[in-house]
Amino acid sequence: MIERADDRTPDSGHPVTEETSPLTARDAARLLGVNERTVRRAIARGELRATKHAGVFRIERHDLSRYRPRKEPVPHRPKGRRQQLRLLPTAPALAPFNVPEPRSSLIGREHETRSIRDMVLSAETPLVTLIGPGGVGKTRLALEIAGQARDAFIDGIWFVDLSPIRDPELVPGAIAGVLGIREAAGVPVTDRLRGYLERRRTLILLDNFEQVVSAGPDIATLLSFCPGLTMLVTSRVPLHLADEHRFPVPPLAVPDTTHVPSFAKVQLSAAVQLFCRKAHAVRPDFELTEANAQAVSEVCVRLDGLPLAIELAAARVNILAPEALLARLEHRLSILTGGSRDVPARLRSMRDAIGWSYDLLDETEQRLFRRLAVFAGGFTEEAASIVAGQERSGSMLDRLASLVEKGLFFTRDTPGDEPRFAMLETIREFGVEQLAGSKEAHDTRATHAAWCLDLALNASPYWFTSEQKRLSDQLEREHDNLRAAFEWLANADDRQAVVRLAGSIWPFWFVRCHWAEGTAWLQWALAWSDGDRTIERSNESACSAGRAACG
Ligand SMILES: Nc1ncnc2c1ncn2[C@@H]1O[C@H](COP(=O)(O)OP(=O)(O)OP(=O)(O)O)[C@@H](O)[C@H]1O
Ligand SMILES: [Mg+2]
Repeated sequence: MIERADDRTPDSGHPVTEETSPLTARDAARLLGVNERTVRRAIARGELRATKHAGVFRIERHDLSRYRPRKEPVPHRPKGRRQQLRLLPTAPALAPFNVPEPRSSLIGREHETRSIRDMVLSAETPLVTLIGPGGVGKTRLALEIAGQARDAFIDGIWFVDLSPIRDPELVPGAIAGVLGIREAAGVPVTDRLRGYLERRRTLILLDNFEQVVSAGPDIATLLSFCPGLTMLVTSRVPLHLADEHRFPVPPLAVPDTTHVPSFAKVQLSAAVQLFCRKAHAVRPDFELTEANAQAVSEVCVRLDGLPLAIELAAARVNILAPEALLARLEHRLSILTGGSRDVPARLRSMRDAIGWSYDLLDETEQRLFRRLAVFAGGFTEEAASIVAGQERSGSMLDRLASLVEKGLFFTRDTPGDEPRFAMLETIREFGVEQLAGSKEAHDTRATHAAWCLDLALNASPYWFTSEQKRLSDQLEREHDNLRAAFEWLANADDRQAVVRLAGSIWPFWFVRCHWAEGTAWLQWALAWSDGDRTIERSNESACSAGRAACG
C-alpha cells in the first residue's frame, strides 16, 4: 500500500530521464520564460541549434539547456498598469504554490524587492542567492518575491525549508519530497527531479542553504539541465557557484541619530516602523510620539536595523518604555561587545538581542525555551509537555503563548491539526547553545529521542491497515524531529535505540518513498547490530526486512 496520491512524477511509468522528444519554439520560449520571437531570433542568429521539419522548428533539449537568452530590453510599462496586471486573475493561480503566507505585511524594502524580482524574472540569472546574517530578513524577502512572481512561473513556485537538514546529500531528496516526486528503485532522485523540471517553468525557493552549501554543485547541475527552472536561495554564506548571482541583503533603514532627527524622518524609517508595529501588537496603546521618537530611533540604531533584533526588543514594550528598554539594552550590549571583537558587528547585535530577550525571561521560561530548542521541526503542545514539561506551574499552552508574545516562538497553522509551535532558525540556534551549556542537555535530548521512539513504536501495529495514512502524515510532520533523534542517538552511541527506532520506523520510509534515506539508516543500524549481543534479534530482523523493502 504505497501512498502516491500527491505524486507528481510523470505518469509514463518510465524513469523520467527517458523523455527525449524535441521541443517546438513555443515550448522552448515557455520554458525559458521569454517571448517566442526571442527563441526564433536566437535560432536565426545561430545562438540556439534547431532543425526544421514541415515548417516547425525542433529543438533538442540538451541544446536548449546550453543556451542562455541575451538580455532583451524590458518594454517600459506605466507603473499603474503593472500593479493592475498583478491583480488580474490569471491561470497560473492554479499552479502549485506551497509558499507560506507571511505573518505580516512587508515594511520598506522597495528597492530590494524590485532588484531581486528583476533578477528572478530574468532568464540570465537562474540562480539568485540572498545573503546576509541571521535575522536580517532574507526569508521574508524571498516570500515576498514568490508572491509577486506567481504569474511568471506557470508551472508553480515551491518553498523548500532546508533548516532542519544537516546532510548535503539529503538536499535533492528534500526538494523532491516537497515537489511530490517519489523515489523510484534504481533511478537517482536527481534524475527524477531533472525529468520533472526539465520542461517546466518553475521557481524553487531554497531556504537556509548555509548548512548544506556543499550541495551547491547538485543545484548547479539541475539548473544546467532545466532551462525553465529558477532557484532563489537564502543563505548566510555564498554558494560559490559560477552562475550564482548574489544579492547581499542589507538591514532595514534606520534614522540618522548623529544629530536629532526630525519626527517626520523617524516615522519614515523602516526599522522604526517595524518596531512600532511589533510594539503595538503587544501594547495596543503604544504610539510613536515626539517624546519617545529619539529612544525608539536609538534602539533601532543600536540593533543595527536588524529586523529580528528589533522585533524582539519591541516585544518587551509592554513592560519597558522605549527609554528604559534602551538603557537595559545598552547595558547588555556594552557588557557583551567588550569580549567579542572578532565577531562581526551584525552577528553580535543579533546574538545580543536574542540574549537580551532571554535574560528577561524568568527562570522557568528560560528552562522551557532552551529545552524546546531540541525540536528540529516544530512541536505541538502535547510534545512540548512530554519533552520539556517537567515544570508544574501553569498550563503549557499559556507558557507557550507567553513565549510567542515575546517573539521567541511563532505558531504555524496546520489545517485540521492542532497548532504547531516553532522558532526562527537564529533563535533556535541560540536555544541549542544555551541547552548545550546547561546541565539538562543530555536528559532533554534523551527525552526527545524517547518521544520519537514512542511515536514510531505506537505506529508499528497499524502499518498496512486503514490507519496508515493518518500515521504516515503524523510522522511526516515529525520527520525532522525523527532525523534529529537518530543523529543524537547515533552520536551518543546508543546502538540499541538506533536499531529499535530504525526497525520500527521503516514502514514509514517505505510508504512515503524515503527509500534512500531509510536504506542509509537501516544499513547503519544493521552494521552496528552485527555481532552485538545486546541488540534484540527481533529489532535486527525488522531492520533487515526494512532494508529489503526500501533498498
Ligand atoms: N521588511 C520586513 N518587514 C516586516 N518584517 C520583516 C521584514 N524583514 C524581516 N522581517 C521579520 O523579521 C524576522 C526575521 O526575518 P527573517 O526570518 O526573514 O530573517 P533571515 O535573514 O531569513 O534569518 P535566518 O538566517 O535566521 O533564516 C521575521 O520575523 C520577519 O518576518
Ligand atoms: Mg531565514
